[in-house]
Parts: sequence; structure tokens; C-alpha cells
Amino acid sequence: HKNGLQVAIDGPASAGKSTVAKLVAKQFNYIYCDTGAMYRAVTLKAIQQGISLDNEPEIAKIVKESKITFTPDETGQKVFIDHHDVSEAIRSEEVTNSVSAVAAIAAVRKQLSAQQQAIAKDGGIVMDGRDIGTAVLPNAEVKIFLVASVEERAKRRYKENIQKGINTPLDELQLEIEARDYKDSHRKISPLTKATDATEIDTTALSIDQVVSEIAKVINSKLNFN
Ligand code: CDP
Ligand code: CDP
Repeated sequence: HKNGLQVAIDGPASAGKSTVAKLVAKQFNYIYCDTGAMYRAVTLKAIQQGISLDNEPEIAKIVKESKITFTPDETGQKVFIDHHDVSEAIRSEEVTNSVSAVAAIAAVRKQLSAQQQAIAKDGGIVMDGRDIGTAVLPNAEVKIFLVASVEERAKRRYKENIQKGINTPLDELQLEIEARDYKDSHRKISPLTKATDATEIDTTALSIDQVVSEIAKVINSKLNFN
């Protein structure tokens, strides 16, 4: 692609996708795109408008009528919907526990995938999500599938929460992660699954830097090959 490779990073909740994707993008001077933030922004708007999560036509209408944009900042990027900064609001427990239902709606996925394809079309991008290597960018030059044990992922979320002053018990977080992974892996349209040509990295016992350097190796081998 004109501006560089397309790098797709998929995997279950809290495997470290967004943390490492941001760092990889920085290292290669690529754009970073958090597709989960787009599903979260739509979910937030539906909740704010009091729309029931099973009201598929109304939620699809939200996607059609809203504009989701990203702007880079020192920590990665800010997320806007209709010019409102929702970077923090989309991380609430309420949004987290509702987003998988919204992400299962066909018309929502169709529209957001098309927007993601437009963002990635010239390459030079690291995009993270659930279906990037399988559905959004099936021809991505680099596909990474990040996994980690559910216990480790719950611990990671627990630590993040503590820093934000939220004190949800560890076992509750683990159940929440399991429930979301189940929904994301079992929906009809582009469920979470590893692309056959993806490189799987188990991050359970790896540091963030180790994961970043593993991914950089895969990218560099592609760049040297081309
Ligand atoms: O960061 P975290 O693992 O909590 O999730 P996220 O990447 O913010 O994604 C939130 C939710 O959006 C996921 O649980 C999926 O339901 C949905 N999603 C999706 O369906 N497809 C994507 N490409 C990205 C996210
Ligand atoms: O985007 P995703 O939900 O896959 O994960 P994340 O939001 O990047 O959260 C992962 C959390 O685990 C962050 O707090 C990271 O600091 C931490 N972590 C990691 O990402 N990778 C490791 N190898 C170790 C810890």
C-alpha cells in the first residue's frame, strides 16, 4: 500500500491489543486505529438516547447519522462522536457490558467495517479489533492474534481499574471478560476468530515490550521481504 503495510491485531478482551498496537504504530510511524472504540462510541450514544440494545433499526440509524473521528494525542488517540470527546466515557462498565450486543448487529458491523476499510486503504496503519484480519482487512500484510489466559487478562483489567479508582472484584471482572469473549466469538457475523494466516502470540507471561518486539519482528520480516 502507498503509505506502508496494513497491520491487523485481533484477540479477546484485555489481551493487550490496544496497548501494544499504539506502541507498534509509534515505532513504525504508522497510524493507529482502535476499532473497538467505534463500537463503544455507538453503544454510548444508544445508551444516552435511551435506545434499547435490541432495537436494531434505531441503533443502525445512530451509526448512519453519526460521525466518529479520531485525533492523535500523547497517550494514543482521542475518540469523538459528533465532535464530542467520548474517550473516557466509552470505557465505562455500562458501555463495556453492553457493547457486544451492539457489535452483533449486522447493519452496525457493515457500516463500521466500511469506515475502517476507508481509514486503512493506503496502509501505514495498525488496526486492532476482533475481525480485522478475518473480515475488515483480509489482505493485510501482517496479521497478529494476541491471546492470554483469562486469569491474566482479568488481573490486567483489575490493575487498570484500581488506577482509575474503580474497585470491581477480580472474579467479577473474569466473568465479565468470559461473557464478552463468548458473545464476540459466537455471533453470526464476523465472530472473533484467528485468521488462518495470523501469527498467534500468547502474552500471558510476556511484558508489553516483549510483545511489541515480537510484532516488530513480524513486520520487519515482511518489509525486508518486499
Ligand atoms: O479493549 P477491549 O478488549 O475491552 O475491547 P474493545 O477492543 O474496546 O472492543 C469492545 C467490543 O467491541 C468488543 O468486545 C466487541 O464486541 C466489539 N468489537 C467488534 O465486534 N469488532 C471489532 N473489530 C472491535 C470491537
Ligand atoms: O486492547 P485490549 O483489550 O486487548 O487490551 P488493553 O486495553 O491494551 O489492556 C491490556 C492491559 O494489560 C493494559 O493495562 C496493559 O498495560 C497490560 N499488559 C499488556 O497489555 N500486555 C502485556 N504483555 C502485559 C500487560
